[in-house]
Amino acid sequence: MKKTKGIILAGGSGTRMYPMTSLYSKQLIAVYDKPMIYYPLSTLILAGIKEVLIISNEETIPHYKKLFGDGKLLGMKIEYAVQPAPKGIAQAFIIGEKFVGKDNAFLILGDNIFYGYLNFLREAVEKNKTATVFGYYVKDPERYGVVEFDKSGKAISIEEKPKKPKSNFAVPGIYIFDNSCIKRAKGLEPSPRGEVEITDLIKTYLDENKLSVAKIGRGIAWLDSGTPDSLLDASTFIASIEQRQGLKIGCVEEAAYQMGFIDKKGLNNIIDKIPNSYYRNYLEKIVENKE
Ligand code: TTP
Repeated sequence: MKKTKGIILAGGSGTRMYPMTSLYSKQLIAVYDKPMIYYPLSTLILAGIKEVLIISNEETIPHYKKLFGDGKLLGMKIEYAVQPAPKGIAQAFIIGEKFVGKDNAFLILGDNIFYGYLNFLREAVEKNKTATVFGYYVKDPERYGVVEFDKSGKAISIEEKPKKPKSNFAVPGIYIFDNSCIKRAKGLEPSPRGEVEITDLIKTYLDENKLSVAKIGRGIAWLDSGTPDSLLDASTFIASIEQRQGLKIGCVEEAAYQMGFIDKKGLNNIIDKIPNSYYRNYLEKIVENKE
């Protein structure tokens, strides 16, 4: 099986979140008890991805580096790249060309939060032949890329923020592509809004009958946190589950331990570097419980 490398696109303009985004990109803002980027990073870890490129603007990259370094503590390899201006989601593959090399790529947007039984992602990575994206039923599809299915469940069209959506299935910010995504992204013309559109990249696969769209079931929560209200909703959601279960969502250290990226010694090594905090207490409990 070909290796799949992860990319987190964690820059953007974040205009809807101003003034929170006037210092650095929004993916450093807290969603309940941890920075937003922890959630997409833990999603990649749970999908079995060990090598990750974090793309953001120049001001924010040093902060991400401070959080995750070279990733070794997590049993990972984490690299960083600057996107000089937010010129589109598909640009991630052009910026990430060297990092991706000859491998496949799994892109996740830095403000996308997934909760639930995420094994389907790992399976999708393993099964992906050319391109896999997802469809998630929402009330307001016009805010997203929208995918239309025929009666047999095959995807037949995809449109970016359509005024009249052909279905209720929005495409969440997780995309699994073969290596040709780099060449394809390079061949795209920027859209009228000046962005290299992810929808256009997906369409190139659809036109060649090489796109697989998997519906995500109702048991999975997909939240984005791009506006003050959706950020508050996401925080409240995460807090409710964490308080009820006493288990954390988006805890990258726990995910790395669970996936076997690090062993007990590795987790203890991380704990030693964390100041006395609820977060540290939580990780200590994880180590104890998995004796
Ligand atoms: P968007 O929702 O398209 O934009 P945004 O949230 O940054 O800004 P605004 O509030 O102005 O609409 O971005 C989706 C995610 O992708 C978000 O996490 C930012 C990231 N992104 C980049 O890092 N670079 C880009 O060029 C684009 C378009 C998005």
